[in-house]
Amino acid sequence: MKNMKKYFNYHKGEGFIEGCRLSALAEKYGTPLYVYSEKTIRESVQRFQKAFSKIAPIIRYSCKANSNLHLLKILKETGCGADVISPGELTIALAAGFAPQDIVMGGVGKGEDEIEFGLKKGVSFFSVESLPELATLNRLSSKQKGEITALLRLNPDIAAGGHRYISTGKREDKFGLTEAEVVSVLKKPSDFPHLKIGGLHFHLGSQIDSPEPYLKAIKEAERLHKIYPFQFLDLGGGFPVTYDKEMAGIEVFGKAICGAVKKMGLQIIFEPGRHFIAPAGFLLTRIIYRKNRPHKRFLVVDAGMNDLIRPSLYEAWHNIRTVRELKGKKNSFEIVGPVCESGDFLGKERLLPDTIKEGDLLLIGEAGAYGFAMSSNYNGRLRPAEVLVTGKKSRIIRKRETLANLTEQFT
Ligand code: LLP
Repeated sequence: MKNMKKYFNYHKGEGFIEGCRLSALAEKYGTPLYVYSEKTIRESVQRFQKAFSKIAPIIRYSCKANSNLHLLKILKETGCGADVISPGELTIALAAGFAPQDIVMGGVGKGEDEIEFGLKKGVSFFSVESLPELATLNRLSSKQKGEITALLRLNPDIAAGGHRYISTGKREDKFGLTEAEVVSVLKKPSDFPHLKIGGLHFHLGSQIDSPEPYLKAIKEAERLHKIYPFQFLDLGGGFPVTYDKEMAGIEVFGKAICGAVKKMGLQIIFEPGRHFIAPAGFLLTRIIYRKNRPHKRFLVVDAGMNDLIRPSLYEAWHNIRTVRELKGKKNSFEIVGPVCESGDFLGKERLLPDTIKEGDLLLIGEAGAYGFAMSSNYNGRLRPAEVLVTGKKSRIIRKRETLANLTEQFT
């Protein structure tokens, strides 16, 4: 994925995303600011489509990674469908122009009202994670005219994913049905007369660093498919991006997975989130204070854990660069936000040029996925604005929140 960073560049000592100068974006829109590169999104989807072209998969972008309306519109244009987890995400996906039949509704705790909302909006694909949920979906579907397809999310007890909080396919995780439960449904689909039992769904974890876990899941699916033929195999998301550790290119996953599923003759579905949007997004932040302590140097910046929680929550490592290309000796810095918690940091022990000073801008990379999407108003802070860069043009795609937004919900 290294080449995905190609749309960040220094030109005459100044940092650019595509053709837009970052210091000019900071002036125009303020900081902290999420900045997205349209070219990067389009190219990561194209590269993924090419890597899996042999099996012509259905690709449903996982909106939980980033559900900005305008980014969803771009993803729709690339040919993706959408994977949504709530009426909220479904509403945004429909507003972005996704057709209801290109949307799958997933989630471990879909309430009756939420399933009903999806059905009313025309969603006809559901990933189901428990037997009571399947019974509810069957009952609610009896009123529907069209066919409603249920995919059974199988918990295969496979370890995968970058951090224990984002590994989902182990027996002790809350997700999915057991194999015995899945078999009981596949054996007797007539128990659910208002549903088509379409096949299996796996989502093993996120930031999976090799094809092996997918191959294990495919083996499991193949075994069941031989006994109880079904039409769809949804392998979820989880494809990795390069943060600190260089990851295998998507072609490595493509080759292994295509090879394993081709002979099964199933329709494959994927739900990538991070892989499409993480490398396209950056968090632009300004240094408020530099604190030189005898044993440590802090850069206190205007973005905090409420804007990007991944370092605090998962100890995730994000690339941090200076926006001005500074030369000379480097020193180790801790980049921290203004939030009143010691867990509020964006980077630790980062080597940055020692000439860095207050007022300088920093750019935090790979922030497009689970960045803005997980932001909050903690400490009474306003969520940042989001800007889309396309070549030399930039446009605001979500306004910065205002103080009025903070008080308007109170009764
Ligand atoms: N499908 C399902 C059923 C999922 O639960 C997820 C992510 C995806 C697809 C998309 O996974 P991806 O391709 O993005 O890995 N907040 C965490 C990641 C949580 C992932 C939750 N589920 C993070 O910042 O690393």
